[in-house]
Amino acid sequence: MSSKKPILELRNVDKSFGPIDVLDNISLNVSEGEVLCLLGDNGAGKSTLIKTLAGVHQPSSGEILMDGQPTSFASPRDAQERGIATVHQFGGTYPLMSIGRNFFMGSEPTKGFGPFKIFDRAKANRIAVDEVQKMGITRITDGDRLVGGLSGGERQSLAIARAVFFGARVLILDEPTAALGVKQAAHVLRIVNEAKKRGLAVIFTTHQVMHAMAVGDHFAVLIRGAIAADFRKGDKSREEIADLMAGGESMADLEANIENRTESHSGHAPQSNA
Ligand SMILES: Nc1ncnc2c1ncn2[C@@H]1O[C@H](COP(=O)(O)OP(=O)(O)OP(=O)(O)O)[C@@H](O)[C@H]1O
Ligand SMILES: [Mg+2]
Repeated sequence: MSSKKPILELRNVDKSFGPIDVLDNISLNVSEGEVLCLLGDNGAGKSTLIKTLAGVHQPSSGEILMDGQPTSFASPRDAQERGIATVHQFGGTYPLMSIGRNFFMGSEPTKGFGPFKIFDRAKANRIAVDEVQKMGITRITDGDRLVGGLSGGERQSLAIARAVFFGARVLILDEPTAALGVKQAAHVLRIVNEAKKRGLAVIFTTHQVMHAMAVGDHFAVLIRGAIAADFRKGDKSREEIADLMAGGESMADLEANIENRTESHSGHAPQSNA
């Protein structure tokens, strides 16, 4: 357990959709300046858990606490207004908007007075580019560029920079590195660390153990909607985490199995389908 007070906490949260139980008795918390990694295979319940924290779903039972007080998020907007920024896989950005517009979306700076107020494009662009650069993404220099022309990693970075700029306290990232190559994933992991240094509480889901180990302070492994393990940095090796995610099966055994099979198949002539 961290010595800091948790910003966000789940206590015994269940979530069902009709007869389907998706989350089972989840208790977790995250504090400022800490990265909580939610690990789990496809269908484990990671996105459902995130949506429950982001105001998309309401828990079927159990409690959500913010700063120690029981609370509920009526909608994604409600969660957002209370400092919970959720970034989905493609950064929630609009490809046909410029970087400057996208950064401010709905809260653009204006110039002029009363009915003569207009969008202050130069200012929006300058702030957006500055903030993204402060996150270490120095390749973005022109706020007029369309978001659609950015790489997946740059879009993620833009979305994270935006969340930090608008004062988010909790940053929730659902598989931000899943669709990225090695270099881009490294960029995103670096800005996750940057957000952590600025005191945000970060929740990061992934099924890539290496990505989790690069940034995580605290890890929870979800299997079929329940927490199968909950541990802190340094407590488990990469192999142990991978085995946990595979539901207790040893990855080394699985690999040996796959190798045996491919060996026993080699040497045979492919069968004709004709
Ligand atoms: N609205 C819903 N109604 C019924 N079942 C749902 C609903 N949303 C999710 N589920 C089910 O809950 C389970 C967990 O889904 P979820 O998307 O949370 O998994 P995940 O861990 O994010 O998986 P992935 O790694 O593939 O993104 C799945 O079996 C899914 O079919
Ligand atoms: Mg998911």
